[in-house]
Parts: sequence; C-alpha cells; structure tokens
Amino acid sequence: MSLPAIAPSLLAANFAHLDREMDMINRSEADYLHFDVMDGEFVPNISFGFPLLEVAHNLCKKPLDVHLMITQPDRYLADFAKGGAAVIQVHYEACPHLHRTLAHIRELGCEAGVALNPHTPVELLKDVLAEIDVVLIMSVNPGFGGQSFIPHTIRKVAQLKQLLLANGSSARIEVDGGVSLANAADLLRAGADTLVAGSSVFKAADPEAAIRELKHVSTT
Ligand code: DX5
Ligand code: ZN
Repeated sequence: MSLPAIAPSLLAANFAHLDREMDMINRSEADYLHFDVMDGEFVPNISFGFPLLEVAHNLCKKPLDVHLMITQPDRYLADFAKGGAAVIQVHYEACPHLHRTLAHIRELGCEAGVALNPHTPVELLKDVLAEIDVVLIMSVNPGFGGQSFIPHTIRKVAQLKQLLLANGSSARIEVDGGVSLANAADLLRAGADTLVAGSSVFKAADPEAAIRELKHVSTT
C-alpha cells in the first residue's frame, strides 16, 4: 500500500501565527493544505473566505484543497480557482446540478471533488463517477473542527472503494473530521488514500511530527 496523502486543516491553526503555521506545513510531509469555507447557511458556522485564501496561497507551498460548505458553490467556483485552489470540493447536498458543477470545476483547471455528509449514501455518486477526481467522506457533521469521529465512516469508505473499483474509477477517497492515529489505520485499510486532520495536527505538541506519524501509520 502506498503512503496516504495528508491534508492538515487550516481551521485548527493558530491564526495569530499564520506565517509560522504555514512554515511548519511547508517543512512537513503534508501533501495538501485543507481550506474549509463555511457560509453560516449550509452549515451552522462561518469560517473564512477569499482574503485568507490569498494569504494561504502566498505562504503555503502545498496545493490548496478547498472544501466548500456553502449553499451556492457555483457562484464562486471561478473565484476559488483564481485564488489558487488546486482541488475544489462541493457538497452533494448543495448541488442540484452536480454533473454541471463538476465539469465546471475541471474546466477551471482544478480537481473536482464531491463531499458527502454522514447521512448521504455513496451509491448516489454512481452516475457522475466519470466527472469526479476525489470523494470527500465526512466523518463528522460538517461545520466545526474538533468533533468526534463517526465510526460508521469506516464501512462507508469500504463501500465507496467497492463502487469505484466496480466502475473503473480512480478517484481518490479522502476522509474529513475527527481523523487521528486512533482511526487512521482502519480508514486506510478500508480504502481511504487521503486524510484530512485539523485538531490532531495543529493541537499536537509537535504538529510536524503528528503529520509524519499519520503519514507513516502502520496498517498491518
Ligand atoms: C469540518 C471541517 C473539517 C475540520 C476537521 O466541518 O470540514 O475539515 O476542519 O477538523 P478536525 O480534524 O479537528 O475534526
Ligand atoms: Zn473540511
């Protein structure tokens, strides 16, 4: 099994020392910086948007993985692409015309991702798999960092892996919410290949080491 990609979530960073936090990410074995956008409408919280994206784009050398927890992502896709997003993830639950939205993300030169809330079954993606570069399985109800991991997610990752294999899709499987050393190995064995980690990285005594440990967690 190849090493998983690690995507530390900026939401858990210390904003008083963003330059230091970004230096740490740049030095680390992180593969992406996960950037959570919340609109107070799709989720019961508001996080940050374009001004901080500009800062992250300027300071961070890792590709930006933008997770849009917003009701009308189509309106802003071009701005996020222009602002430096390498990956744009929209929520299945917020996209009545998901096929068009995903095609648009690719046209903008970004990887197209679909996030699924904990209650949304993976089978609903079957007819758009060809448009998807990454599926973001939410392992908490989106809106806040620091929540407890929902154990059912492990089975859901395995179901998604089966669905992708059965349909010849090489989409990545990314997991977001409450990810730590306590569940990383189970997630990877189930088929995940990218792990988002907020609190378990940024609240660790040594965040750079926490990233390394997640990346090299033993799955045997
Ligand atoms: C939750 C966000 C997550 C969050 C993860 O709505 O989408 O990306 O930052 O943080 P932790 O790892 O602390 O659950
Ligand atoms: Zn996220």
